[in-house]
Amino acid sequence: MIDEYLANVRESVNQQFLNIIKSDSQVSKAMLHTVLAPSKCIRAGIVRAAAELEGTLKKESINNLETAVEAMHSYSLIHDDLPAMDDDDMRRGQASSHIAYGEATAILAGDALHSLAYEIVASDANLSIEQKVNIIKILSDACGFNGMILGQQLDLESEGSDSGDINKIHALKTGRLISASLALPITNSKLRMKLKTIGEDVGLAFQIMDDVLEVTASSGALGKDSGSDIKNKKLTYVSVYGLEPAIKNAEKLIEQSKNKIIDLDDNLNSKSLLEICDFIISRDN
Ligand code: IPE
Ligand code: IPE
Ligand code: MG
Ligand code: MG
Repeated sequence: MIDEYLANVRESVNQQFLNIIKSDSQVSKAMLHTVLAPSKCIRAGIVRAAAELEGTLKKESINNLETAVEAMHSYSLIHDDLPAMDDDDMRRGQASSHIAYGEATAILAGDALHSLAYEIVASDANLSIEQKVNIIKILSDACGFNGMILGQQLDLESEGSDSGDINKIHALKTGRLISASLALPITNSKLRMKLKTIGEDVGLAFQIMDDVLEVTASSGALGKDSGSDIKNKKLTYVSVYGLEPAIKNAEKLIEQSKNKIIDLDDNLNSKSLLEICDFIISRDN
């Protein structure tokens, strides 16, 4: 059921990317190469499921927010794979952006997707100015120098070392954007704050499972190099705590998050969101 839900989300996000990225320049081709490649679209799925909680936003706006977070996420992956960062040749079951288009165009495609995320929000026809500013603030705060980028910096600095705060690295590099995806579509500010906090745990659990899958799944199943963390001597949840404790911790975080979601308010439609929480710890890629 959740597979079908996410496939639906993916279809509407892909369609929106095709509507927007129309030029046939090299950089546009590189952008489409990554955004249209097979992905889980979990952040967009979280946006949709979060929007269903209140049920107040228009369908078109929800689709825009879904597309914006996936643009932001794809940019971060293109840059993450670059030779100066994780130096990974495969992503989403195909050549990474810099392998397919060269390093310079990959950098530019990432830059363009980063800008596009904000442009999509700013151009929405139905959100109020105040809603747009709030959303852009949440997104920029999550992804900037105190958020995802700091996480990526600390992740790089952790290479080859056996110390470093793995919880902090993961919360920043992955948790923040996932938490933002949960908060973005919420109009009630109190509820938004609560979901932001819950989203941090959900995001941490997601990255713990990313570390776990690098050890337990094949490159073919993952669509990316399953030896990347070892190659780069990364500090991971598995290298710090071991495989079983890492899985247990992710399960615990998801259990706690689900309970917090259930406790929020009886009037909220949390069915899809709870299913996405389960998917995060049961997924195989
Ligand atoms: C991979 O994210 C990078 C992380 C932050 C863990 P996903 O596992 O969501 O990758 P896609 O979007 O499905 O390719
Ligand atoms: C990616 O983390 C985090 C961001 C892109 C912000 P990883 O480097 O651990 O993810 P994968 O394994 O390459 O997908
Ligand atoms: Mg990385
Ligand atoms: Mg990587």
